[in-house]
Amino acid sequence: VEIRVGIGLIGCGTVGSSVAEQLLLANAEIEKRTGVRFALRRIAVRSMRAERAAWIPQALLTDDARSVADDPEIDLLVECAGSGLNAADIVERAISRSAHVITANKELIATQGPRLAALAAAYRVTLSYEAAACGAIPIVRVLKDALAGDEVVSIAGVMNGTTTSILHAMEQGTEYAAALAQSQRMGYAESDPANDVEGFDAAHKLALLMQLAFGAPVLSTQIGCAGITGITPTCIARASELGYRLRLIAAAKRSSGGLRAEVHPALIKADHPFARTRGPENVVRVVTRNAGALTFSGKGAGGSATASAVLGDIVGAMKVIGGREVKRNGAHAGGAFASSASIAAYFDDRMRLSDSAEYPVWAEN
Ligand code: HSE
Repeated sequence: VEIRVGIGLIGCGTVGSSVAEQLLLANAEIEKRTGVRFALRRIAVRSMRAERAAWIPQALLTDDARSVADDPEIDLLVECAGSGLNAADIVERAISRSAHVITANKELIATQGPRLAALAAAYRVTLSYEAAACGAIPIVRVLKDALAGDEVVSIAGVMNGTTTSILHAMEQGTEYAAALAQSQRMGYAESDPANDVEGFDAAHKLALLMQLAFGAPVLSTQIGCAGITGITPTCIARASELGYRLRLIAAAKRSSGGLRAEVHPALIKADHPFARTRGPENVVRVVTRNAGALTFSGKGAGGSATASAVLGDIVGAMKVIGGREVKRNGAHAGGAFASSASIAAYFDDRMRLSDSAEYPVWAEN
């Protein structure tokens, strides 16, 4: 049986344009893998006048994202808009007419994920968001599927490439502003880079991962967050003299008192995998009761790396649509925390070097 799937893409920026490119290039290969025929039917963009690559079919473009979400010809909505759009409205509209949804929008999941997952479950559609946390690293699948039979104790790492790029550039003597501009040029930074440097981007990713790891409806607004804007060349030089590097760490763990989580710059021993990051790569360390410590690393930012995760979700959704697989939506099965669980600060009990009081020293668990 030949199943035809109409795909609607929202957003054609760094990630969206890469998704469109990979979809169009790999069309035949994806159809072979999924047994499903598909067509990219429409692409919603912010401005029809913006310059874009020649291979993007003009005829597919519209500046009316709602009309794409509402289009009955679209069975699978892929939301890569970033910001500047009411993504929740778009996603809800699509789910409410039983379209499957893929989103790369970490803020959406970190602030409304539990509600949207329930909505998707009610309409029996998939809601996938592998690209929303740590770009190409398949950490969402790891927590949702591979570790679903284990108990996650902690999850921590470097989850923002922009701040790593800035801190690494400052270690090389570059000024903060020039380092930030460079990250923007590389397509790592969010459209409003305050989200990166103030730690909100990492807090969104951490909340999203905590939802999966701990089965708790954690929202990023519950996570204490400090960014890197206060880090001076002196802080960096002093850390280096002592054998440390500063990195923006996102960390969460279960403890007897409940959940603890925080995003904060921390001093990391220079030979630790978190400290060896230089640019867009993320490193995530998950500790579970039975599997022990697992470390995942790879590109956490950038168009084609992030689009790879979106494409994986697209193939997965098409397999579901093709009836080859029954997929379960929702949070981790081992959910043990009440929805009102408050999140305590993670770094409260961490040692701070006497002459570098600002920053806690990272230590495993
Ligand atoms: N702005 C993000 C980063 C992109 O720098 O890591 C991926 O979420």
